[in-house]
Amino acid sequence: MTAPGPAPRRSLRRSVELLAAFRTEQADPDGFYGMLSADAVALLGTRVPLAGSRALDVGGGAGYLTAALRSAGARCVLVDADAGELAWRGAPSPCSVLADGTRLPVPDGAADLVVSSNVLEHVATPFALLDEMARVLRPGGHLWLSFTTWLGPWGGHETSPWHLLGGERACRRYERRTGRPPKNRYGESLFPLHVGPFLRRLARTPALELLDARPRYLPAGTGPLVHVPVLRELCTWNLEVLARRRG
Ligand SMILES: C[S@@+](CC[C@H](N)C(=O)[O-])C[C@H]1O[C@@H](n2cnc3c(N)ncnc32)[C@H](O)[C@@H]1O
Repeated sequence: MTAPGPAPRRSLRRSVELLAAFRTEQADPDGFYGMLSADAVALLGTRVPLAGSRALDVGGGAGYLTAALRSAGARCVLVDADAGELAWRGAPSPCSVLADGTRLPVPDGAADLVVSSNVLEHVATPFALLDEMARVLRPGGHLWLSFTTWLGPWGGHETSPWHLLGGERACRRYERRTGRPPKNRYGESLFPLHVGPFLRRLARTPALELLDARPRYLPAGTGPLVHVPVLRELCTWNLEVLARRRG
């Protein structure tokens, strides 16, 4: 029998390693996304039962998070709206479905767990996606999601930090300098999403009870940051939320 490893912690060292890994995203996407997903699932597993759960990975792309959830024993179905993303690593992950997350082909209350990592900021109607994810959860089921905040250092993705001077302008600058448009195009596949409005909308969503909201990549102890107006938009970087479906 394998001895259990140390309990995952949101240490300073973890934060440094995660943020440093962003530099290798283009050169080593397997290493980068594999590391992010393993980290997310290890931490999630300390809060939510994963083994045997019926999980849905919305906007799962090439399937890194799905693979990590399956390693933890979850029965995970992946949904993504882009066939190219699904096949990005070769054959799509088994049990992948091509569908829009705002219209999930899933009955009400069918999932124990819905996860969505770094997807909401790519959706023009993020709150429609939030409501749809709540719809497919069973009462007591959990929603785990994260998104990159627009006013944070990585809000514009590859056009950062110039997005802070305007998303369209940042896209034009990127294209001028690289000779190609950015993958994440402002107003088409990347939309400003903010901590305050998101948390207020979640609080007004009767189906969901907020359990936790914190900066995903920052160390333990930085959680209260997400309650400080203005500062939370600039420093959260990536908002991680855990919520429960009300009965
Ligand atoms: C930045 S990628 C994140 C992929 C994956 N969740 C991860 O963290 O590795 C964003 C993903 O969201 C998907 N996406 C965007 N809009 C979507 C929608 N309306 N419904 C489902 N998936 C969507 C994209 O196709 C893409 O695969």
